Amino acid sequence: MTESKEYWMRRRGFILAAIGSAIGLGNIWRFSWLAYRNGGGAFLVPYFIALLSIGVPLLILEFLLGNYFQGSSVTAFKKIRDQLEIIGWIAILDVFIIGTYYSVVLGWVMDYIGYSAVVAWKDVGAGDLFGSLIANPWLQLIGFTITWFITWITVYKGVSGGIERASTFAIPVLWILSAILVIRGITLPGADVGINWYLKPDWARLADGKVWIDAFGQILFTLSVMAGPLVVYAKYMPRNSELPNSAWITAFANCGFSFFFGFATWGIIGYMMSLQGATTPADLNVPLGGAGLAFVTIPTATSLLPGGIAVAAVFGTMFFVILWLAGYTSLISIVEPVHAALNEKFGTSRKFNVTLITILSYIFGLAFIFRVDLIDPVDFIAGSTNLVWVVLLEAVIAGYFYSLKKLRDYANPYAELKLGEWFDFLIRYVVPIIMGIILVYGLISTDTMSPISGLVLILLIIASTVLAGSKWKTIETT
Ligand code: ALA
Repeated sequence: MTESKEYWMRRRGFILAAIGSAIGLGNIWRFSWLAYRNGGGAFLVPYFIALLSIGVPLLILEFLLGNYFQGSSVTAFKKIRDQLEIIGWIAILDVFIIGTYYSVVLGWVMDYIGYSAVVAWKDVGAGDLFGSLIANPWLQLIGFTITWFITWITVYKGVSGGIERASTFAIPVLWILSAILVIRGITLPGADVGINWYLKPDWARLADGKVWIDAFGQILFTLSVMAGPLVVYAKYMPRNSELPNSAWITAFANCGFSFFFGFATWGIIGYMMSLQGATTPADLNVPLGGAGLAFVTIPTATSLLPGGIAVAAVFGTMFFVILWLAGYTSLISIVEPVHAALNEKFGTSRKFNVTLITILSYIFGLAFIFRVDLIDPVDFIAGSTNLVWVVLLEAVIAGYFYSLKKLRDYANPYAELKLGEWFDFLIRYVVPIIMGIILVYGLISTDTMSPISGLVLILLIIASTVLAGSKWKTIETT
């Protein structure tokens, strides 16, 4: 295991890259919809509890692991116990799998940036346009290829020259464009009605366990807490760096963005309701979350904006640029840990690894392009279930096989916000218990567990076993 040679140029770059990893598609199309479904403003209570009880502690833990062990989760877990290396590979390969379909969706977003310029949905209707895109692999390949090309170049150029530069540009642009969209959203006639649906608290909903599961489930994915991206991003900070407060900043920037962006979405939904005389959002008969919100509802809404076709083009383009930038900075953070793990174990170069990862992701991504229906079952296992048990193991490994006190003592001299014993308590007890509950609940209450999900899980474990069992080519420094 070699000491890392690459570093961020500035702490600001590290934090922006971590925020870029966290803010992604989920912030834009999932958060506000979850809030609407799960008690409006009342949903903020379980969401905040999830953030404080598991989100921030795990984020801090990932920063500490990456920086202290100067490596990805593969190196970190191996240094803790040889036999635990496989858990690191499972995490890394799981992140790789997420990238294969996440990039397909980003490809659609890229296509829609093109569609927006000419308001391609104005004649055929947004629903039919989206249907024709996902039925046409060649059209999907355009955005998919451009997305991978830009991602490949970015990560190929390295930590400070590629990832830091991209994040330092993309994140401020993302916020500025979002602010413009929010201002347009909340000043539309009827916006207040939509925002009221988004945030009107329905406290009775908090009695429903599913609301809590949704809040806790959303937190891991939205923060990119998956024993992959953030561990590696912290590896590239010098030792003796501030870490805990950087985690707090990342978490609040991410969740603040979700909350903020909800005003744009629900302002626009309120406007549509007022135009159509709908009394509830459901009366609109359009999707209010997920891909349907992004690719059908928002495009439809842009065509209804006052000002005609040019305005539809401008706001449509703006929305899809926001969505793409959010997803792109997440996809970068999905590729980077895979490279880091390969480099640490096999000593292979960044240029080789990143090119290999891009080619493999591209090939696997083709499967989703030709069979869009595979995305859901694969996401169920890789983007949801696996995260829960991998992160559970991460907390157990750090909390029981290693010493959290040692990690705290390592970070505290440089910490702007000191870590106390509360941190150990959350990692050792609260995180494992909550993750255990979510896992059991998720498995018994879902019908998404299909043979595809099971197959992906088996392949993941086999591949991780092979990687963990192969010989380390790099020099051990421990
Ligand atoms: N955290 C990223 C997202 O929310 C992966 O999309």
